[in-house]
Amino acid sequence: ADKTIYRASTTAPVNIAVVKYWGKRDAQLNLPTNSSLSVTLSQSDLRTHTTASCSASYPEGDSLLLNGEPSDVTGHRTQSCFRELRARRAALEAADPSLPKLSTLPLRLVSENNFPTAAGLASSAAGFAAFVRAIANLYALPDSPAQLSLIARQGSGSACRSLFGGYVAWRMGSRPDGSDSLADQVAEASHWPDMRALILVVSAAKKGVASTSGMQRTVATSGLFQRRIDDVVPRHMDAMEEAIRDRDFAAFAEVTMRDSNSFHATCLDTYPPIFYLNDVSRAAIGAVEAVNEAAGRTVAAYTFDAGPNAVVYYLQQDEEMVVGTFSALLGDVTGWKDGVQSYKSPVVLVE
Ligand code: PMV
Repeated sequence: ADKTIYRASTTAPVNIAVVKYWGKRDAQLNLPTNSSLSVTLSQSDLRTHTTASCSASYPEGDSLLLNGEPSDVTGHRTQSCFRELRARRAALEAADPSLPKLSTLPLRLVSENNFPTAAGLASSAAGFAAFVRAIANLYALPDSPAQLSLIARQGSGSACRSLFGGYVAWRMGSRPDGSDSLADQVAEASHWPDMRALILVVSAAKKGVASTSGMQRTVATSGLFQRRIDDVVPRHMDAMEEAIRDRDFAAFAEVTMRDSNSFHATCLDTYPPIFYLNDVSRAAIGAVEAVNEAAGRTVAAYTFDAGPNAVVYYLQQDEEMVVGTFSALLGDVTGWKDGVQSYKSPVVLVE
């Protein structure tokens, strides 16, 4: 039998939403209740590296090694990604019988994050984006990043945004089959090259309430949530796209902070409530308010996902001021100074 091993590798970066995805209208297809918008942290070292290979010599069926540990691939979302990618490869093979029949071979994925997994650092976003692109490369699929985003979305919603660099919108779409719920690039990173992100890893522990069950509970119980998706998010999406187009940092910052606050308010309005922010998170909010007050203009914006870690957006020209503020706050927390020097998107472990 043919023992050839076919192989392809890729990396995908983390993205951090400035208008948050929170809520599914279809859990099976991972269709969201609202559009969202994020910044891809392409210049940082926050990436997933994935190698996909397939071979008739693999005895175990499909498998995934994540940071050296065997990981379950039987889950519905992973299976959706495998199925969609194989169907596309099978279509190519049907059209060109000279192609090797890779679509029927077992797949082996080897994936490494260079940051703490499931620490609220959007590891699933980079993870599923790298997963889908590595297999798409292996299968030599002609699909565009937007088409691949449809597949990555089924692995993890936020992953669809990591297939693009720069400023990326995930349009919620309206079709029941999800075929118009995909990502598009609002602007290249080079459109606003001074944008920076400071990541404060308040806790590297696994998050308390996983996003899928948290969303489900919010959609089912929060009254505030209905207002968020009907009124708040549509306004924030428009204002954010305008702020990015005009490179208006004050507007970008206000929408970012308001949207994070709105998302965490709906978490608190969930019954029973969900608390993602902790005292260190609230201190980070205080520090951002203090530096903006001291500067007499907006130089920093905070945002929080489904965990206590803060991401602070700022512009390169204000780095000294913003980083100085957190320096005073963090004092001699280990790794903080090194982190700032060695990352364009510095990561600081506060824990
Ligand atoms: O993609 P998921 O299911 O891990 O959900 C991510 C949800 C948030 O990170 C809180 C918001 C977002 O838009 O990334």
